[in-house]
Amino acid sequence: MKILSIETSCDETAISLIEATGGLKNPRFKILKNLVASQIKIHQPFGGVVPNLAKREHEKNLPILLKKILPDNSRLNPDLIAVTVGPGLEPCLWTGIEFAETLAKKIKKPLIGVNHLEGHLYSIVLNPKPKNLTTKSLFPAIALIVSGGHTILLLMKDLIHFKKLGETRDDAAGEAFDKVARLLDLPYPGGPELEKLALSGNPKAVPFPRPMLNQKNYDFSFSGLKTAVLYYLRNKKIAGEKLSLPDTAASFQQAVIDVLTAKTFRAVSAFNAQSIMISGGVANNTLLRQTFQKKSKEKNLNFFAPLLKFTTDNAAMTAVAAYFSHLKGKKYPLKARSDINF
Ligand code: KG4
Ligand code: ZN
Repeated sequence: MKILSIETSCDETAISLIEATGGLKNPRFKILKNLVASQIKIHQPFGGVVPNLAKREHEKNLPILLKKILPDNSRLNPDLIAVTVGPGLEPCLWTGIEFAETLAKKIKKPLIGVNHLEGHLYSIVLNPKPKNLTTKSLFPAIALIVSGGHTILLLMKDLIHFKKLGETRDDAAGEAFDKVARLLDLPYPGGPELEKLALSGNPKAVPFPRPMLNQKNYDFSFSGLKTAVLYYLRNKKIAGEKLSLPDTAASFQQAVIDVLTAKTFRAVSAFNAQSIMISGGVANNTLLRQTFQKKSKEKNLNFFAPLLKFTTDNAAMTAVAAYFSHLKGKKYPLKARSDINF
């Protein structure tokens, strides 16, 4: 079936057209069209996403993207329309939902609501040469979703049955990257900029804390780490001491990665997992990917991560999650929700 998917949960307007086949036994996805209109330049002067500006941009971009995906003379006809209903910024989500509702009525096709986090989780299947992720020997698996709004650890019994093991109690990993980037005077979005700065720094230079590393749960907390960076910078300034921004960035990044790695691999041991799956914007981080990949290899685990372009928000992943929801008969109400989780 062809799925036309719409994603407007934050500051990317995205529409995709995906051909999904194989059902729950052997799902396969072919990307027919995939467009993302980034709003980075618009929000950059404000140092973060301004919800009403984002909403206005979505309103402007959606019809333009749709025309490119489904031109008036197009013979491509979707069988299903999918739209993200949350979690995300409510004004932005509503824009996508209302646009999808109008389109569904116009072309007389069913419309399905999608959980953005399921989208991230399933972004790993959008690989040109996918492994069959329904293979039993790949499970149980541990999935780590690390985005700007969420840090969640899941136990996957198979590709569609999963249970949340833990999540962040305050800032998400991506949010911590963005806030620390701001302390370091880096432009928005901070995560990729901080990663670049860290390349020339020493990750052992500053002994920042590893929050909750030794607690026997699967929760995370990153707001204390951000505060530790703030105090470190302030104290250096007050003392008039020389400060290395690359060292600070590299040490912070290492602290986040150490905690994410330790908790994920602890869950792997506790549940005898066979695979690790990482996804979300922070999974774009090269050091994080390399650390997980190396450790997975050492422990003889299968490792899955999305292609780099599918780590951050996109609508292709929304279509994948929609296909699974459609097959399972799972229905999210067509209402914007800032707080849906698992
Ligand atoms: O998944 P995503 O696009 O949006 C949400 O659903 O939140 O994630 C965006 C987050 C931002 O916080 C951004 O700074 C972070 O992902 N991010 C990174 C990198 N690329 C994006 N964080 C660290 N290193 C990166 N290379
Ligand atoms: Zn996202």
